[in-house]
Amino acid sequence: MVRQWTPDSWRGRPVQQMPEYPDAAALAAVEGRLATYPPLVFAGEARKLKRALAKAAAGEGFLLQGGDCAESFAEHGADTIRDFFRVFLQMAVVLTFAGAMPVVKVGRIAGQFAKPRSDPMETNGGVALPAYRGDIVNGIDFTPEARTPDPARLEMAYRQSAATLNLLRAFAGGGYANLEHVHQWTLGFVKDSPQAHHYEEIATRISDTLSFMRACGIDPQTTPSLQTTDFFTSHEALLLGYEQALTRVDSTTGDWYATSGHLLWVGDRTRQLDHAHVEYLRGVQNPIGLKVSGSLSPDAMMELIDLLNPKDEPGRLTLITRFGAGKVEEGLPKIVRRIQREGRTVLWCCDPMHGNTIKATNGYKTRPFDLILKEVETFFAVHRAEGTHPGGIHIEMTGSNVTECLGGARAISEADLRSRYHTHCDPRLNADQALELAFLVSELMKRDRTSNGRRAVAGF
Ligand code: PEP
Ligand code: CO
Repeated sequence: MVRQWTPDSWRGRPVQQMPEYPDAAALAAVEGRLATYPPLVFAGEARKLKRALAKAAAGEGFLLQGGDCAESFAEHGADTIRDFFRVFLQMAVVLTFAGAMPVVKVGRIAGQFAKPRSDPMETNGGVALPAYRGDIVNGIDFTPEARTPDPARLEMAYRQSAATLNLLRAFAGGGYANLEHVHQWTLGFVKDSPQAHHYEEIATRISDTLSFMRACGIDPQTTPSLQTTDFFTSHEALLLGYEQALTRVDSTTGDWYATSGHLLWVGDRTRQLDHAHVEYLRGVQNPIGLKVSGSLSPDAMMELIDLLNPKDEPGRLTLITRFGAGKVEEGLPKIVRRIQREGRTVLWCCDPMHGNTIKATNGYKTRPFDLILKEVETFFAVHRAEGTHPGGIHIEMTGSNVTECLGGARAISEADLRSRYHTHCDPRLNADQALELAFLVSELMKRDRTSNGRRAVAGF
């Protein structure tokens, strides 16, 4: 018998990765206020995303999911959001062009604040303090005051998410994403890179096509879909008190939706079947993601799928695989075959970041671009061999000119890491590296397209 679900039914379950707030009454007061605030996203939008993901799961679309590992209060500026959005649009153009299929655009943004940690404590110079868990929980400075979880941060994160989402909606719908501006999205510091030249070629072909279409009577005025794009938000559903406060009934269907973001995922450290995070996610009707690594057995994965998507609804579940470049070949085929055998519908998405984190000799946590690429290549190769659709990528990236991941066309070295290492958590691809990755993925998509003879589908 399926147990009854309520937005707070997770509270009766064992839970991992939750901060310990010293003042429970203060936390309850903040959560109470959050529960009265407006939703950040609407159920109808979450359903629209689910439909787009369902198409992608059926082989007629590709998911591009990316953004910060951890958003921060300090980096909340219009320029940061705009630069991220520009690179994201460029990547989407490259992938749409190569794959000849719609690219579903989902940011790790406007809510991606809370971080799970492998170690609850951090030791520095013989002093041990609680680990930094993201700006929504505590501060990054290594002091007892900063590291104490503070409920006031929940409201700050909510308001920052609202402001970020407001700007993203304006960019996506207010003309910035108009395909006629395809030449203007290249960032200044990317302009002289090999990627920028490659991108210009594609942009020129798109402008030529738009001129041709205009001559045929199809232009952004007659076809508004050329003027705007759909951009969705996502984050890891980690801080369940926050999520519960923003869980609302959709008045049109009577169903419960998480309104903190369009897509929520459950992380690699919190996906225990009978624990709180899975309990929360099973009851909301949003599209959801499940991180899958080698530590999840195919049997355990099937149990999770039965619980999270019992009716096998297309678009509901995206499996975000993050094995590590050297482990994809061993781990991925067996879960792909199992899903095929069980006849379940999932969207396959590759996170080439979280299994490829290393420590540089100078102590920086980093990721080699070569390994990131290798994980994506192997992901495509496995799906080609199994006859399934490699349906998306999930990356940590920024529009800023940071030096956090090694390699790429500009060959960032270990010595370069210290010059602009700004991340609050995991190392991100910079704008150059993100665009380079999009081109490499586009080559893989083209190869698949030629071998499948897949038909072109319009839509940006
Ligand atoms: C993340 O996506 O930032 C993350 C922590 O991933 P995972 O749960 O896969 O380790
Ligand atoms: Co991360």
